[in-house]
Amino acid sequence: MAGRGNFSSKIGFIAAAAGSAVGLGNIWKFPFEVGQGGGAAFVLVYLAFAFILCFPVMVTEIAIGRRTQKNPVGAFSDLGFRNWRWLGIMGVLAGFLILSFYNVVAGWAFGYFIEMVTGHFEIGQHFGEFTKNFVKVGGYGLIFMAATAFIVSRGISAGIEKASKILMPSLVIMMLGLVIYSFTLPNAGKGIEFYLLPDFSKITLPVVYRALGQAFFSLSLGMGALITYGSYVGKNDNIVSSAAIITLADVGIAFLAGLMMFPFVFSQNLPPTGGPGLIFVTLPGIFQSLGPVLGIVIGSVFFLLLSFAALTSTVSLLEVPVAYVVDEHKIPRKISVWVIAALIFIIGIPSLLSNGASDLFSSFITYPGAESATDFMTFIGHVANDTFLPLGGALIVIFAAYVWKKHNLNNELEQGFAGFKGSFVEKFIDLSISYIAPVVLLSIFILNVLDRFFGVQVF
Ligand code: PFF
Repeated sequence: MAGRGNFSSKIGFIAAAAGSAVGLGNIWKFPFEVGQGGGAAFVLVYLAFAFILCFPVMVTEIAIGRRTQKNPVGAFSDLGFRNWRWLGIMGVLAGFLILSFYNVVAGWAFGYFIEMVTGHFEIGQHFGEFTKNFVKVGGYGLIFMAATAFIVSRGISAGIEKASKILMPSLVIMMLGLVIYSFTLPNAGKGIEFYLLPDFSKITLPVVYRALGQAFFSLSLGMGALITYGSYVGKNDNIVSSAAIITLADVGIAFLAGLMMFPFVFSQNLPPTGGPGLIFVTLPGIFQSLGPVLGIVIGSVFFLLLSFAALTSTVSLLEVPVAYVVDEHKIPRKISVWVIAALIFIIGIPSLLSNGASDLFSSFITYPGAESATDFMTFIGHVANDTFLPLGGALIVIFAAYVWKKHNLNNELEQGFAGFKGSFVEKFIDLSISYIAPVVLLSIFILNVLDRFFGVQVF
């Protein structure tokens, strides 16, 4: 990249990577996945995956990025293994797919900000009509993609870092306030019970692979986003502690979102299984209950901050294909950004039409053995988040442990973390990436594909 940028400091990198991780995945997706996955049991499986499998994958991705100073495709060839380029290409493609639908939901969040500013609390009951309005949600989506492209075109540190540092803490403070409010509502106890008291019989195969997909998606792993961000990290920074902070922040914020949402959901007697509409249906009524003035203030600030959280994630999603095209094909950054953003927006049009606007895309596919059809946007999520990301994660750790080799990885991790070698953390990461992660990730990947797409249940 001409004048390839760098994060200005360790904290800048952490803020940007946490900005990538924290987004709609934590606040929109996590609560509805928990709701559909049976509650606390899903939360437990998710937490176990995040710490045992995802944290080591994150460390590995950042290390590969910093070592090579490259985008995912260039990174693998740079380490001397051109055949592994396709793993980077798979990541770039996953980024394309994820951004294409993510941007749609980000557009909804931004649209809700406008609805809240204008005091339209009843939007919660009309969520279906809102998403059906192609012109409206298409317009919001277009604004969102343009904002993303604008930030990415300005380069890595100028835009991303500054925004993350201020906005993420604001979001956390606001959510803490809402959690406290949620506890005061009638039926809050039932919500907390659903969220925190596990019923182990709910741990079925779909719960396991959806929890895994959610953990990967939420932590921005398995597609090279953190290889790309890692390529901008300074040599003196401690990768392991940075990854630990990012993982804790991301998981913590998702946990907080659940703590806020389930008392809200149960206090309104709504079903927790509401799916992708869960926060959009539930929250407006809650904001309305705060009274007209406070409701408008809190409601609009909340959706504005959610839009910003989404923006720091869309920026990282777009950065992956952009870094690839800029590094490998030497196309100027500005042109790459706008062309790729336009392409992804176009690929996202079926997702825009998936929530009521078109019957074809709203009932796109019926999986073998399923009772009802799945819409296109959800289907893309299943393909990208639950399938490509864990597979990408498995291959990345297999690559690092067996192809690039662990001593090289360890040398990279030792930089900025004197004493890493021989430490407990090294042993844990080693065990995870050499044995646990490859076996578990590949097994779940295979079981997921067989079950969901072919209707073959091994268990
Ligand atoms: N982690 C983001 C979220 O939870 O909203 C989504 C995401 C961003 C996934 C970047 C993958 C990625 F590379």
